[in-house]
Amino acid sequence: MSIQKEKIQELVERKAAAKLGGGQKRIDAQHQKGKLTARERIAMLLDEGSFEEFDMFVQHRCTNFGIDKVKYDGDGVVTGMGTIDGRLVYVYAQDFTVNGGSMSETMALKICKVMDMAVKVGAPLIGINDSGGARIQEGICSLAGYGEIFERNILASGVVPQISGIFGPCAGGAVYSPALTDFTVMVKDTSYMFLTGPSVVKAVTGENVTQEELGGAVVHTKKSGVAHFAAKDEEEGIQTIRTLLSFLPSNNREQAPVVKTSDPAGRYDDALNEIIPDNPNKAYDMHEVIGSIVDEGRFLEVQRSWAKNIIIGFAHMNGRSVGIVANQPKVLAGVLDINASRKAARFVRFCDAFNIPIVSLVDVPGFLCGTQQEYGGIISHGAKLLYAYGEATVPKVTVTLRKSYGGAHITMSCKQLRGDINYAWPSANIAVMGAEGAVEILYSKELSKIEDPTERQAATEQKRQEYNDLFCNPYNAASYGYIDDIIEPRNTRFRVIRALEQLADKKASNPWKKHDNLPL
Ligand code: HXC
Repeated sequence: MSIQKEKIQELVERKAAAKLGGGQKRIDAQHQKGKLTARERIAMLLDEGSFEEFDMFVQHRCTNFGIDKVKYDGDGVVTGMGTIDGRLVYVYAQDFTVNGGSMSETMALKICKVMDMAVKVGAPLIGINDSGGARIQEGICSLAGYGEIFERNILASGVVPQISGIFGPCAGGAVYSPALTDFTVMVKDTSYMFLTGPSVVKAVTGENVTQEELGGAVVHTKKSGVAHFAAKDEEEGIQTIRTLLSFLPSNNREQAPVVKTSDPAGRYDDALNEIIPDNPNKAYDMHEVIGSIVDEGRFLEVQRSWAKNIIIGFAHMNGRSVGIVANQPKVLAGVLDINASRKAARFVRFCDAFNIPIVSLVDVPGFLCGTQQEYGGIISHGAKLLYAYGEATVPKVTVTLRKSYGGAHITMSCKQLRGDINYAWPSANIAVMGAEGAVEILYSKELSKIEDPTERQAATEQKRQEYNDLFCNPYNAASYGYIDDIIEPRNTRFRVIRALEQLADKKASNPWKKHDNLPL
C-alpha cells in the first residue's frame, strides 16, 4: 500500500472509531434507555447528507484523577453545520456515551466554536443536551466552559434563533444554557432538567420526588413553563425543532421565509359570525378562531399546556410567518395573570427581535385580582407584557373580538402602544370595566337609597343598560379613532392579511439606549 493510501486508510479508521463515541456497549445502553445517540439525533435533524462535522479529533486535556488514561476522539459532543429544509444551521449534540456527556474544557471550546460561527454567519443554533453536567474531574475548567457558553447564549440572544433540545439529563447549572435560549423542547420520560436532583432535594427539604416529578417534560411544560414543547419521543422532538425553524428567519436582519399556500387570502368563514355567544359570560374556544384565519388551519402552538388562558404560537398568513397572541376565554375567562403575562411577553419579544409580525386576538376581562396575584407581583409581571408590546416595532395587527377592559385593554397591543392596525368585531366591548362593576362603583350609594328591592333592581338594570349603550360596543372607541375599522368576523382572515401586507415595509425604531430596563 502506498504511503498516501495508508494515510487515507488511517483517516477512515480514525473517523470510524470517533463515530463510535464511548464504544458500542455504551451505544447499546443508550438505545436500551430508549434514547438515540448524538450522531443519530443530528442525522434525523438535518437534511440528509448535509452534516459537516467539526473537531472530531478533539480530546480532553485533563490529567486529574487519572482521566488522561481514558480519552475519546470528539470528547463527548458532536458539533458542526448542516441544513434544515435547505437552510444553514449550526448544531451540537452532547454524546452521553463519552463520560456521560459531561462538560469538559474542550467540549465547551467545541460548542463555543459553533456558537461563534452561527453568530458570524447569521444562522440558527440548535443544541441537543444529554449530559451528567460539569465533568467532575475538570473542576473549575468545566465551570469556566459553562460560563463561556452562557456568555455566548446571551450575546447571541436576539441575533440568531437558539433552540435547545433536552433529550436526557440536564442538571445543575447546565440548565441555564437552555434557559437562556429561545425555545426548549423536552422528550417525555427520558429527559429532565433541575438544579439539584432528587437526593439533594431530599437532604435539603425532606421532599421525596422522582426525577420525572421534579423536572420531567410534563412538569416543565405544565407547571413551571420552563420548556416550550414536550415531545412523546425523540423523533417528535426533532420534528418539532424542524417545524419551529420553518417559521423563523435565520437571523435578526432577515425576514422569515415566505411559503407557498393554496389557502386563498380572501377565504371567509361564516362560522366566525356565529362564534361569539349571546351571553357575555359564556366561553368559546379561541383555537377555533385561530384555526379559521391562518393558512390551512396550521398553528404551531408554543407552551400549549402552561398558562392556557393565553395562547401563543406561530402560523402563516398568506405564506408569511406571524406570531399569534390570543386570550383564551375558555380558560379563566382569558384573564391576564402572572403566568399568562410572562408567557406572552417573552413571545412578543422573540417575534419583535426576529421581524415576525404579531397578530393579537383580544377577549380579555382584565388582570386577575386577589392577594395571590398581588403578592406574586402581578404588577411587575403584567408590566412585562405591556412593555413587550409597547417596545415592539414589528407590524402589530390587533383584532378585538369581545371584551377588552381596563389595563388589559391597553396591554393587549392597543393603539397607544403603537398598534398599527386595530380592528374590532361588532361584538367588542372596549371599556374601563364591565357594566356590573362600573355601576357598582358609580351608583352604589344612589341605588342603596331605593328601598324596594324590585325597584332597586330595575334601576340597577337601567344604569347598566346606559353604561352598556355607551361603552359596551366598539363604536365609542372607533369614534376616537382608537379602532381603525369594525369588521365582520367572517372577513377577519382577509382583513388581517391585507393589513399585514400593507405593513410589510413598516419602519419604526426606538430611541437610542444601551439597553432597556424592562420590569424583569
Ligand atoms: C464525569 C460523569 C459525570 C460527570 C456521569 N459521568 N456524570 N463523569 N462527570 N458529571 C460518567 C459516569 O461516571 C459514567 O462513566 C458515565 O458518565 C455514565 O454515567 P452513569 O452514572 O453510569 O449513567 P446513568 O446511570 O444513566 O446516570 C446518569 C446521571 C448520573 C444521572 C447523569 O451519571 C449522575 O448523577 N451524574 C452526576 C450528575 C451531577 O451531579 N453532575 C454535576 C451537577 S453540578 P463510565 O465510565 O462508567 O461510563 C453541575 C454544575 C454546573 O453540573 C454548573 C454550571 C454553571
